[in-house]
Amino acid sequence: MHSCRPARTAVPAAAVALLLVTGSAGCTGGGAGVQGTPGAAGLRDPLFPKLGNGGYDVRHYGLTLGYDPATGRLKGTAEITARATQDLSAFHLDLRGMTVHGATVDGAAAATNRAGDELTVRPRDDIEKGAKFRTVIRYSGTPRPVTNPDESQEGWLASEGGALAVGEPTGSSTWFPGNHHPSDKATYDIEVTVPAGLKAVSNGELTSERTRGGKTTFVWRSKQPMAGYLATLAVGDFRVASSRTPAGLPVITAVDPSVAEDSAELLGRIPEIMKWGTEKFGPYPFSSTGAIVVPTDEVAYALETQSRPVFPQEQFDEPTLVHEIAHQWFGNSVSPASWQDIWLNEGFATYAEWLWAEEADGTPVEESYEEAFADDGNWAFPPAGPPGAEDIFARPVYMRGAMVLHKVREAVGDERFFSVVKGWAAKHRHGNATTDDFTAYVEKESGKDLTELWDVWLYGEEKPARP
Ligand code: ARG
Ligand code: ZN
Repeated sequence: MHSCRPARTAVPAAAVALLLVTGSAGCTGGGAGVQGTPGAAGLRDPLFPKLGNGGYDVRHYGLTLGYDPATGRLKGTAEITARATQDLSAFHLDLRGMTVHGATVDGAAAATNRAGDELTVRPRDDIEKGAKFRTVIRYSGTPRPVTNPDESQEGWLASEGGALAVGEPTGSSTWFPGNHHPSDKATYDIEVTVPAGLKAVSNGELTSERTRGGKTTFVWRSKQPMAGYLATLAVGDFRVASSRTPAGLPVITAVDPSVAEDSAELLGRIPEIMKWGTEKFGPYPFSSTGAIVVPTDEVAYALETQSRPVFPQEQFDEPTLVHEIAHQWFGNSVSPASWQDIWLNEGFATYAEWLWAEEADGTPVEESYEEAFADDGNWAFPPAGPPGAEDIFARPVYMRGAMVLHKVREAVGDERFFSVVKGWAAKHRHGNATTDDFTAYVEKESGKDLTELWDVWLYGEEKPARP
């Protein structure tokens, strides 16, 4: 992508002369007189360097989707509102597969280009740093799942009579274009039209549902910022139920009829786990909760999709439900700044399981910790340093991640530890954080130098001699 385009407006000779002097010969800039350059094609994530895009910050996604399970075709319009973080002559969006039919920027037709998983949009006029702009992308096709570096499949998972979208770490680009790095969070409106009789369930709250001409349109709104990997969409013959927790929070659950009976009891325990989470971690960050349960063969992993985690039926058990609900605070509200920081998600969610097991089944946290310590399978690499993209969901991230938190607890004492846990969730609520943010926060709140703890438990390659 070159940064210079032919002038469409006459440029005064003096301006040309000035440009020649400043060494930008041939560049005449956009209509607003801005000299933009293309936004980067990736955010240089240490593990997924091409993921996300530079030069802008998305504020809101308005997705309008139509899906028919009989054909497997998805038709979409993505309306993306963003703010430029540099003068932009062009910008990238992450999109895998699908055909792009057209794009506009602030209402004017924009040129597009596809290369690999990158969609480039070149507006007619350059966009000035700090300006808010709106781009609309029209696309369609048969979305295909992604095979992850760890061999799991994700993204758009079509099934007989429906589909399910999950995307940690990168699958969301199979069903909508966007800035799919966890550091660019945005609010979402997801409107989905499906054949009448089917349901479409997504994140947040349902704001409207109407049936017309044999089709039903559901509109879901996520009012709090969400990372792209946490977006979900489930289309199918679901049993959907809406209720409220005793505290008044909407609980929206969707379950495939074939697994409804087996899931009913645990679905009923969501309010109790929500209350427990709120006591332990502080105010719940989102305006609704729930779960989506599908047959085991439809998805390989459970995922903490925002406000409404997804579970294959075989993994819909109490520890996993506690784990995915804990992620709402740790991962979804406080999101990793890069995939290198994934232990901040999985370590906290695993530690939540240990806390729950102590209170619910009387298994002391100490015992969960000792068991994790003893298992050599948990020691392949340090939690803060997954060596490659295929390792971000490997056991050290979860187990050593939780062990780090237990070590912090031992070092600072119970009272300080639980106030640090709540304080961390509050400090970065609806934001992003790095591992360095965490270690600095713990040291500041506890007044302790914990260098040695981090060196051994967070960054150390070797398993320590004693637990
Ligand atoms: N974050 C999910 C959990 O709750 C796991 C996601 C796994 N993703 C994958 N590509 N293997 O632990
Ligand atoms: Zn997890």
